This record gives sequence, structure tokens and C-alpha cells, in this order.
Amino acid sequence: MTRHLLRDDDLSPAEQAAILDRAERMKADRFAERPLEGPQTVAVIFDKSSTRTRVSFAVGIADLGGVPLVISTASSQLGGKETASDTARVLERQVAAIAWRTYAQSGLEEMAAGTTVPVVNALSDDFHPCQLLADLLTIREHKGALQGLTVAFVGDGGDNMVHSYLLACATAGIHLRVAHPASYGPRREIVEDAIRIAASTGGSITLLSDPAEAMADADVVVTDTWVSMGREDQKAARLEAFAGYQVTRELMTKAKGDAIFLHCLPADRGFEVEAEVIDGPQSVIWDEAENRLHAQKALLAWLLEQD
Ligand code: CP
Ligand code: NVA
Repeated sequence: MTRHLLRDDDLSPAEQAAILDRAERMKADRFAERPLEGPQTVAVIFDKSSTRTRVSFAVGIADLGGVPLVISTASSQLGGKETASDTARVLERQVAAIAWRTYAQSGLEEMAAGTTVPVVNALSDDFHPCQLLADLLTIREHKGALQGLTVAFVGDGGDNMVHSYLLACATAGIHLRVAHPASYGPRREIVEDAIRIAASTGGSITLLSDPAEAMADADVVVTDTWVSMGREDQKAARLEAFAGYQVTRELMTKAKGDAIFLHCLPADRGFEVEAEVIDGPQSVIWDEAENRLHAQKALLAWLLEQD
């Protein structure tokens, strides 16, 4: 059966670990695997802006021996005259896989249900699972095994990054603490899914309001923009609500001395994070951005084998 990655818990703990192992091997020997040789084409569709996702998919597909077809929704029929499922039926006759950055998760579900080729969520309003594979790869590189680590996420608890952190960390057996303002927390059903997964992997999920409590002795500190794409009209209210949730040098002293800092980027220095933290010695953001390439290559290679 065709496998898709629409949300982080589409991968079992063993599958997630296997993809991360493969990404590590691909990083060490970048052109060793050529599953798209032919070449086969992979469509990468964007309803929203992107730098890292666009580049890492295009370069990664080429590394795998394939041809990337990068499509902007604004210049296609998708989203206007044509449904996701009709677009998928057209694409599946010509491409090996589809990656799509969009708004509603339901669009990705519709596309996946309507096609025989793998569909990858390249970011939706709800999840960013490709980013989490890169983040976990980065954490593994710097900290060794993921199991049992403590990760603190401080800031917008209701966005795609937090939802993906919840599911992906639970899958990896990580202890995840999320500190967020009261009205900006994660969706209840996603928290429940994460708690259920964590119960079987030895991880845990803790939701807090106090950033310092979340950071206490953490191995990894993460934040994300306070104004995700599509929420620009809420900017003023968000800046006010998140005022006490900036990752500062002072806050970083609560985490372990060798804690690392991650941010998926793009970042608003002076808002969710102090420039001295994101540009400081504990920050691993450039490794994290590079790892999008290796993680997605491993994911695509794995998905293409599952048919
Ligand atoms: N982190 C990330 O997905 O970046 P882009 O929006 O630039 O793709
Ligand atoms: N939460 C951010 C992630 C950007 C990669 C957004 O959706 O805009």
C-alpha cells in the first residue's frame, strides 16, 4: 500500500529511526543512493513561501538521480479551478512522488486519498513533519541517542511546529515540555495522540505556562516564529501575548550547560529569540537547515520502497 507522510505519527518508532539512520548514511556519502535514476520526476508544490523546503527538495531529488518539478500554486490550477484529488490523479501518471506545502491538512488528506504515489507534507497549518526529521537528525548528531532526552519548546504552542514536536518527540521516546501562553496551546486531540504514543516509547509530554520551568535542565531548546504564515493579521495580538516567551540568554542558563538551540527558520531576532542566542555558541540552526536535505532524501528513498 502507498505510504504517505502527512503527519509525524504516520511513521512508527522503528520507521522513524530507520529513516534517521539512512539520513545519517546519506549525509556521510551524499550520492551513494540513486533511487530516482531514470530520471524520475518528483513534484514539489507550494501554496506558501519557502526557502529551505524548496531548495532542499530540489537539491535532494537531483542528488537521488531524479528531476524536481517545483510548482507554485498561484500559477497552477490547484486551489483555484481544480481539486487536490484531481491534481493528484493527473500527477500520479507522470511523477514518482508529490510534496505539497499548503494551508489545511484536509487538502493533503484529500490528495493522498486520491493517488497511488507517496504524498509528503512539506508544511501545513497543522504539521511540519519534514522539519522534524531534520531536527531529530540534528539532535542525534549533537546529543547521541534521542531516547530519554529532554526537549523544551518555548513560544507558540498552537502552531505546526509544536504539533509536529509533540508527535515526533513522542515517537522518539523524548521528554517534551512545551511552555506557551494560555490561549496559544496545542490542539487537544494532538496532545492526546502524543501522550498515547509516548506511553509506549518511554517519552512524556508536559504542557506548562512558565518558560523557566520548561527549560530546567533541558538538553535541547526550541522555538519558532510567533507569527506563522497565514496568521499575519494576528500579529499585534500575538506579539503582546508572547512577550514573556522570548528565548533569552538568561532563560538559556536554566537549561543544561551543554544544551543546544534549534529554530526551523525563518527567525525574527528580538521576538521569539534573542540574537545572542540564535547566533551564539549553543545554536545549531545551520546544521538543522542543512539536515533538511539529508532527512528528506532518506524519507523519499524510504517511501518509494514501500509500494
Ligand atoms: N523551515 C522551513 O520550512 O523553511 P522554509 O519556509 O524556508 O521552507
Ligand atoms: N511555523 C512556521 C514555520 C515556518 C517554516 C510557519 O508556519 O510559518
